[in-house]
Amino acid sequence: MPKVTFVNEKKTIEVERGTSLRYAALENGIPLYCMWFGLSKFANCHGNGLCWTDRVRVSPSNAVTEQTPLESAMHTFGSLPRKGDPRVRLACQVVVMEDCEVTTRCKNKR
Ligand code: FES
Repeated sequence: MPKVTFVNEKKTIEVERGTSLRYAALENGIPLYCMWFGLSKFANCHGNGLCWTDRVRVSPSNAVTEQTPLESAMHTFGSLPRKGDPRVRLACQVVVMEDCEVTTRCKNKR
């Protein structure tokens, strides 16, 4: 089973291969929604890839499934600091295939 290490939270979990990163995080108490002073915890698209509030950085990028078209749109049209970085993903669109490290945007924001 792949191991997912959440860097900021200093927590490693094991998941079934093919698990959604969003659900793996939320089921293990890892916060994903910290934008807009925490309002994104309530005002998000619930995993539909439309709100872009659950951005994470995944390394290595080939440990998870490829970018979805919604993520490609984010990289094309978004104004991200790391625009085009293949490691920047939407947790709700990522499926874990191998061991990886995940950096959330919620450092010290529990
Ligand atoms: S929950 Fe909205 S983009 Fe992932």
